[in-house]
Amino acid sequence: MYWTVNGNGHIPDAITVDLRTDTISQPTQDMRDAMVNAVVGDDVYGEDPTVAELERRSAEMLGKEDALFVVSGTMANLIAIMVHCSRRDGEIIAGDNSHTFRFEQGGPSQIAGVQTALLRNREDGTFDLDELRDKIRVDSDIHEPITQLVIVENTHNMCGGKVLPLEWLAQVQNISREYGIKVHMDGARVMNAAVYQKVPVAEIAKYVDTICFCLSKGLGAPVGSILAGSKSFIAKANRVRKVLGGGWRQAGFLAAAGLVAIDKMINRLEVDHRHALKIATAINESGSKICRVNLATVQTNIVMIKVDRSKISAREIVERLATVLPQDSVRVSLRTSCRDPGFFRIVLYWEITEECVRAAIDKISLVMKELDEKFTKRSDKMDMIEC
Ligand SMILES: Cc1ncc(COP(=O)(O)O)c(C=O)c1O
Repeated sequence: MYWTVNGNGHIPDAITVDLRTDTISQPTQDMRDAMVNAVVGDDVYGEDPTVAELERRSAEMLGKEDALFVVSGTMANLIAIMVHCSRRDGEIIAGDNSHTFRFEQGGPSQIAGVQTALLRNREDGTFDLDELRDKIRVDSDIHEPITQLVIVENTHNMCGGKVLPLEWLAQVQNISREYGIKVHMDGARVMNAAVYQKVPVAEIAKYVDTICFCLSKGLGAPVGSILAGSKSFIAKANRVRKVLGGGWRQAGFLAAAGLVAIDKMINRLEVDHRHALKIATAINESGSKICRVNLATVQTNIVMIKVDRSKISAREIVERLATVLPQDSVRVSLRTSCRDPGFFRIVLYWEITEECVRAAIDKISLVMKELDEKFTKRSDKMDMIEC
C-alpha cells in the first residue's frame, strides 16, 4: 500500500516524486502533437502508414530485416516464444530472475505450452555459460523436451538495470548456434544498454536472432513495443499477434508517439542514468547502516537498494518513504517499489528533473537518519550492511 502524502491527503504543501517505475512516464508534448496529427489506416490490413514507418525505422535501427509493433513487452516476448517454439515438445532456457519467468504470469507455459528450464542469474544479469551448455537438450532422448530458445534480458530489470557485456552475448550466440538454437533478447530497456555502452543498438542486436524493446518505458511513449527479426520470423509473429487479439486497427496514433520516442528520447537516457547514480551515491553517503547500494551495479536508470532484513523489511521502508508525517521537515512523498523483502527499487525517467532528484535525496536522507537513530538506540554496535 502507498500513501500519496500522509494517507489522508492532509498535508497540502507536500510533493510527490514517483520513482516506482519508468512505465508511468507520460507522453511528451511532441508525442501528443504527433498523435493528434497522425495519418492512420487499418493496420490489420497493413494499411497504416505510420505503423509501417515505425516498423521500418525500428528494424533499420536494430539491424534486422523486419519489425512488428505490438501492445506490450509481455506480448512481444510471448509472440517470440510462440514463433520460436512451434513444436509441442519444446523448451526454453531463461534466467531465474528474468522478467519472462517471474513477471509474465507464466505465459510461456500458460499460453505457449512451453516449459522453461532455469539458469541462475548472476548479479550482473548474465548466467554461467557452462551451465547453459549443460542445460541444452538435443533431440537424442525420447524422455526429454528439446531446447528451442535461449532468452537473455538486457538491461536486466531485477539485477538493477545491468547491461549485458557484448563478449558474453557473443558467447551465448556461439553456443546456441552450435546446437541450432535461437536466441531472443528481452530488450525492454535495450536502448539504455546502448546508451551506456555507447554503441548503436544494432551492435547489441546482432548477437541475437530476435529482439524486442519497449517504447513505453524510459522512452516515454504511451503504449507499445517493437519485436524484430528476420522477414519470415515477423510474418509468423504477425499471425501469432492476431490470435492473441493483438491485431490493432488505427494504431498509427500510438506509432506516431513511438516515432518521436525513437527520434528524440534515446540520447537523453543518459540524463536518467546520471540521476540514478546521483541518488545511489547519496544513499551510500548518508552513511546508513540499514540500506546500501553496490555502486558498481548502477549503470542505467534502475537502482536496487539492499536492506538489512534482520532490522527492517524493504516494504516498511517503501511505506515510510511514501509517507509525509506532520512533523517531517521534508515534505516529499517518495514512491518506490519492492518485490523482494531485501531490496527496494527506484527507476528514473524523463519527467524526473534535477529538482525531483534533489527532493528524493532529501527524503531518503531524512528516512535513513531516522532509521539509524531508531536502530542505534536498540544496539550500540551496528555494522555497515554489506552489498
Ligand atoms: C525486462 C522487462 N521485460 C518485459 C517487460 C514487460 O513489458 P510490458 O509491461 O510492456 O508488458 C518489462 C516490464 O517492466 C520488463 O521490465
